Amino acid sequence: MQHRLARTCKQLDDCGIAILSVLDRYLGRFEYVPEELLFKKSHLNEKVFARELEKLRKLKLVEKHPSMTTYRLTYLGLDCLAIIDLVKKGVVTHIGPLVGTGKESVLYLAKVAGDTTAVIKLYKIGRVSFKKVVRYRGYVIDQPSWLEASKIAAEREYKVLTSLMKYTDLVPKVWGWNRHAVVMEYIEGVDLYRYRNARDPQGMLNYILMTLRDAYIHVGIVHSDLSEYNIIVSVRNSIEVPYIIDWPQYVSKEDPLADEYLRRDLSTIARFFKRRYGVTLELEKAVSYVKGLANGI
Ligand SMILES: Nc1ncnc2c1ncn2[C@@H]1O[C@H](COP(=O)(O)OP(=O)(O)OP(=O)(O)O)[C@@H](O)[C@H]1O
Ligand SMILES: [Mg+2]
Repeated sequence: MQHRLARTCKQLDDCGIAILSVLDRYLGRFEYVPEELLFKKSHLNEKVFARELEKLRKLKLVEKHPSMTTYRLTYLGLDCLAIIDLVKKGVVTHIGPLVGTGKESVLYLAKVAGDTTAVIKLYKIGRVSFKKVVRYRGYVIDQPSWLEASKIAAEREYKVLTSLMKYTDLVPKVWGWNRHAVVMEYIEGVDLYRYRNARDPQGMLNYILMTLRDAYIHVGIVHSDLSEYNIIVSVRNSIEVPYIIDWPQYVSKEDPLADEYLRRDLSTIARFFKRRYGVTLELEKAVSYVKGLANGI
């Protein structure tokens, strides 16, 4: 079955992609790109340009300014550019249905080389606050800087997962990144906050601390947004394996706030395990363990 995003990508040809690519290149320089500039940089003849631009507007890949003859890329336009490139480069071979939605991203199932199931995480920074704005203003505002912020988040997550996966299996492996999209391992499981009746909560907590320790000692970072919402529990041969996801906001352990963030991450997790399973964790011992100052908790 073809899903909306895959279908939209298929409707694009090289001329449409040329126009979208110009808008992408100008992100950050203009909020809206003037039509004359867009025309000149697209290298299309006038008739084709007009026809393609109209098509892109209808598909909601570009948006015209309410009063001026200027255009900007929408998130859907950026999604298509990223996916088309990932397919062209052979990173992704198939796009499937939507599998997850976060506050700042949407995730699609996909296939990567070797027919392995993966997910494409498309960052959508500003989407939630954007909806709130629409609610009270009644019209659409968006900012190219949000699209750029999404690209930065994707690059950070891709790079940090690339480092982390050398030291731990308990984060998603990554296969590629393009613009605001990260292609990563599909973790089949349940978010920790939804997971009930764990068989071995202490075992899961130990795994989580081991992953944080690997991240701290080997990669030199602190997650900084750890909670039961950013952990997926995958059950393998009756063993509950917690994967830590959602890394773009990590900080370096040299950051002046790193210690505060590490304590916050650990307190949040400790509170959850205490509340749900009655398992206790001593904060100071956990901090020493993660930092590699003690060998156990
Ligand atoms: N690799 C993955 N495999 C399977 N499901 C995933 C994967 N990564 C994320 N998800 C699902 O998608 C949801 C959103 O992912 P993630 O937390 O990375 O995005 P987010 O937008 O930053 O989230 P938020 O800001 O709401 O915390 C997760 O709660 C999880 O259910
Ligand atoms: Mg999250």
